[in-house]
This record gives sequence, structure tokens and C-alpha cells, in this order.
Amino acid sequence: MSILVTGAAGFIGSNFVQDWFLNSDENLVSLDLLTYAGNLKNLSCLENNPNHHFVKGSIGDEKLIAHLFEKYQFRAVVNFAAESHVDRSIHQAINFIDTNIIGTYKLLEAARFYWNDLNKEFKKDFRFLHVSTDEVYGSLEKFDKPFSETSRYEPNNPYSASKASSDHLVRAWHHTYNLPTLITNCSNNYGPYQFPEKLIPLSIINALNGNSIPIYGDGQNIRDWLFVKDHCNAIRIVLNNGKIGEVYNIGGSCERTNLEVVKTLCDLLDKIKPLENGSSYADLITFVKDRSGHDKRYAINATKLEKELNWKPSETFETGIKKTVEWYLENSEWINQVINGDYRNWIQKHYE
Ligand code: NAD
Ligand code: DAU
Repeated sequence: MSILVTGAAGFIGSNFVQDWFLNSDENLVSLDLLTYAGNLKNLSCLENNPNHHFVKGSIGDEKLIAHLFEKYQFRAVVNFAAESHVDRSIHQAINFIDTNIIGTYKLLEAARFYWNDLNKEFKKDFRFLHVSTDEVYGSLEKFDKPFSETSRYEPNNPYSASKASSDHLVRAWHHTYNLPTLITNCSNNYGPYQFPEKLIPLSIINALNGNSIPIYGDGQNIRDWLFVKDHCNAIRIVLNNGKIGEVYNIGGSCERTNLEVVKTLCDLLDKIKPLENGSSYADLITFVKDRSGHDKRYAINATKLEKELNWKPSETFETGIKKTVEWYLENSEWINQVINGDYRNWIQKHYE
């Protein structure tokens, strides 16, 4: 048996694949287009694992996907592949439409054709798990209840609109064709291997380089933070025990303003790697122009997942953020490669 994991060289995908092999020796095929956000080095610890196979390619490439289904006879697909950065989507949305909407559609169709021809037993056990985001529910005001699985879809930016579209496609493929799907909607992740365009790694790296740490607007926007390993664990649980056709919200019940997050990072760095001149990293915080249409607050109610599937996060924000800062401090080579594009040359040499 084997499973297909798409977007496996990205932040959450690579954490998921690494954790997979801590829990299982089942074959796993990692598919990734290796866009700017995909980094094969994130999977380098699996280079000698005979049960891991990496394929460079797009979820939108029907021929390739059909070939992979034929060759590996997957029992499940976990779809992480996406364009994931809100700011990029505001600047230019086309890649988000191509991958998040059309790519998901192509992957669903390939899965459907394959699944249709399976024998009864394999058909019953097959799963298509689509990894999505809390951003599809839009934005909360300060005293609104956190998002639940029945919250209305109200995406506010091109990224979240494209993810909302993909969720609707997955839902429709279940409802219309009976494809055994699962959808997870998770809050903001942080942890090792996150590309330094997102708030937490960007702030750590800017601080370490003595550059200003940009905070959009007044820094009072709120996100609900979850350590990436807890997200990966939740996905494995939903894949194994989730009810077909259902949606599961995943979140850390850990709301922080952006300013609180960045100040926490600066305090940690002050302790672990104090500046020689005695000043604080927090002096680098700079308030900049706000993001267009910036969602005010995200918060997730994960009761369904906790009660029905017995999931709970293992890290608090305090323990998870400390591990994250330590990981970035210990992995300066990874940071340099990601920033200066060395890893891209390496990929070209190996795969193109
Ligand atoms: P990421 O940008 O780090 O990784 C995305 C990966 O997908 C990259 O490796 C990229 O190369 C790959 N990719 C892009 N287009 C592709 C294509 N057409 N075919 C195959 N691979 C392609 O993103 P992430 O933060 O790891 O997010 C992974 C998934 O989780 C996304 O679907 C995202 O919407 C969702 N999500 C992310 C968060 C978060 O906080 N990061 C929270 C909830 C949900
Ligand atoms: O909620 C889940 C989503 O979380 C995922 O679906 C997305 O893929 C992921 O990128 C993330 O989206 P956000 O827009 O919330 O993450 P980002 O790290 O870009 O920004 C977090 C908050 O910090 C947001 O309010 C914007 C703010 N910000 C961000 C950057 C990059 C800043 O203030 N300064 C910055 O430089």
C-alpha cells in the first residue's frame, strides 16, 4: 500500500512526511512542483529511506498524476499542494487560481477515475484528504465566537477565495460522485521549515540579521497559532478515523495579536542570543503600511476534532515558539540556502 502526498516539499507537507515515517513504514510518494516555496532539502533526511519516493511535478499535470495512480495504486491522497502566501496572492492571483483551483480539480478528477475502477474493498478504504485553511471563513470581530465547521464561507483575499473554491470542489466531488473525501481547515501554523515570507520566520531572520521587523498596520490583528507537528498529527488522525465527507477544523485555541507574537520572539532571542550592545531585538520592530483587506481576527473551534477523534495539541504557544526559535538558530545553513537561492541551483542539478 502507499499514499500520495502533494506539496510535500513545502513547510507543512515536509513536516507531515517526516512525521509519517516516525509512525509508519508504509510507502509514501511525495509530489511537489518545487516552486519557490518547495525545498527538497526539507526532505533530505529521507534520502536513504526505500519507502519514500520523490516526484517533481504539478497536481495540474493529468498525465503524470494518472501515471502515479497507476504505478503506485494509492490508498490515499493528502493534498497540501498550494500557493499559500496571502501577500503574493494580492500582488498576483493567477498562480493561486491555477494551482489551488484548477490543480485541485485535476487531482480530484484523476482520483475519481482511479477510484471508480478499484475493486469493492479498495474502493471502500480509499480517502482523498484536502488540507485547507481557516481563512475561508473570513474575518472575526473581537467578541465573535471562533469559527466552527458550520461557519459561513466568506473569503476576503485571492488566496482564501482560491482555497474556498477548492473546498467547494472537494465537497462537490463527494456529493456528486461519492468520492470518499475529507477536508481539514486549520489555523496559522508555525515551526521548522517555514519559508521566511511568513510572519514568524521572517521576524526571526530579520531580527538575527539586524534588519527591521515589519508589522502591518497597528499590529492588533489576531491569529490562532498551532505548532506544525500538532497539525500533522491531526491530519493523520482525520485520515485514519475521519468520517467520509466530513469537515474538521483544526486550531490551537491560542490567539495572539501580531505584536504579541513578534514581541515574544524578540524576548526569546534577547534571552538565547543577547545583542552585544545590550539593546533588545524589539527595537527593530517597525510599523508599516497595512495589508489590503487585512483580516482582523481568526480563531478556530476544534471541539469536533477533539471530541469525535480524540485529538489535542501537544504544544502550547510558549513551548512551540521556543522550539521554533531554537530550530532557526540551529539551522542557519538552511536559512542561507533558502534566502540566497543555493538550493534552487541544487535542485536544477538534480532534477531538471
Ligand atoms: P508552502 O507554500 O510552504 O508549501 C506549498 C508546497 O506546494 C510547496 O512545496 C510548493 O512547491 C508546492 N506546490 C505549489 N504548487 C504546486 C503544484 N501545482 N503541484 C505540486 N506542488 C505544488 O505552504 P504550507 O504553509 O506548507 O501550506 C500547505 C497547505 O496547508 C496549503 O494547502 C495551505 O493552504 C494549507 N494551510 C497552511 C497553513 C499555514 O499556516 N501555513 C494553515 C492552514 C492550511
Ligand atoms: O490562517 C491560516 C493561514 O495562515 C494559511 O492558510 C496561510 O497559508 C498562511 O500563510 C497564514 O496566513 P496569514 O496571512 O495569517 O500569515 P502571514 O504569516 O502572512 O501573516 C500573519 C499575520 O502577520 C497577518 O495578520 C499579517 C501579519 N504580517 C505578516 C507579515 C509577513 C505582518 O504584520 N508583517 C509581515 O511582515
